[in-house]
Amino acid sequence: MWTPIAEEAERATRVLHPDALQLPRPARRRVLTVANQKGGVGKTTSTVNLAAALALHHLKVLVIDLDPQGNASTALGVEHRSGTPSIYEVLIGEISLADAAAPSNQTDNLVCVPATIDLAGAEIELVSMAARESRLKEALSPEALDSLQPDYVFIDCPPSLGLLTLNAMVAAQEVLIPIQCEYYALEGLSQLLGNIELVQQHLNPDLDVSTILLTMYDGRTKLADQVTTEVRNHFQERVLKTVIPRSVKVSEAPGFGQTIITYDPGSRGAMSYLDAAKELAVRGAEMGTT
Ligand SMILES: Nc1ncnc2c1ncn2[C@@H]1O[C@H](COP(=O)(O)OP(=O)(O)OP(=O)(O)O)[C@@H](O)[C@H]1O
Ligand SMILES: [Mg+2]
Repeated sequence: MWTPIAEEAERATRVLHPDALQLPRPARRRVLTVANQKGGVGKTTSTVNLAAALALHHLKVLVIDLDPQGNASTALGVEHRSGTPSIYEVLIGEISLADAAAPSNQTDNLVCVPATIDLAGAEIELVSMAARESRLKEALSPEALDSLQPDYVFIDCPPSLGLLTLNAMVAAQEVLIPIQCEYYALEGLSQLLGNIELVQQHLNPDLDVSTILLTMYDGRTKLADQVTTEVRNHFQERVLKTVIPRSVKVSEAPGFGQTIITYDPGSRGAMSYLDAAKELAVRGAEMGTT
């Protein structure tokens, strides 16, 4: 007999029993910057949940929290009080990436370089430093990454186009842009794309806007469908087929220092982030073969 509870239990089983679903390893290590200067569009939520979903399925994932708010660190249950070894000390060259990486309590295969409030001053401190826009790229050198061996690196950006986000764009091969399915969603996007173009021209010619993820979709509104259609028309196959629904559970999880994947694996939010992670992984495996 079909019941909502049975359906939820079945979903939880699919999410939590990773052996039922094999996610392919990427052809080469992928470094993705999760950026959108608009605040509250789901950058952090997407970063931590995609990361957790991939890690749960045996891929090695490194999350770099590049936002002084430290939301990704919180969601991954990683200490980020002021003074904790963090991305700040890495950027100013005091410690190595591996020294700042801490395991998440969410799942194996997932480590996070946290952000503390000390990062708030970095935007200004970096201005006077040599190679100020490529500090993160240097910190993520092949040797530094080899010590952690991640298949995926996600960089969670703050809601601005300042020096921190610039560092993230210089350090990455790919940009993942979360877009909230709401009226103002597309406003500011041209500014973001313009900045990415400048980075491509001057600092990182290989940077690719590879992935767009639609977030906080509310099926009850006509507007959500209009935004979805508009984004798909514009970005075509870069937009993941999976759309993340708006769900209270997703917003509750960080309050428990958890991702939705562990907080409520049977929820639609968890399932959709797992589906999005699957799409990302399948594309990543195809990248090297095409
Ligand atoms: N699918 C969702 N359903 C409901 N709430 C969500 C969903 N995704 C994110 N939220 C909530 O929306 C708020 C903004 O999300 P999030 O922090 O991920 O955005 P952000 O882009 O990282 O924000 P910021 O720009 O401040 O870094 C948070 O309170 C989060 O819990
Ligand atoms: Mg955030």
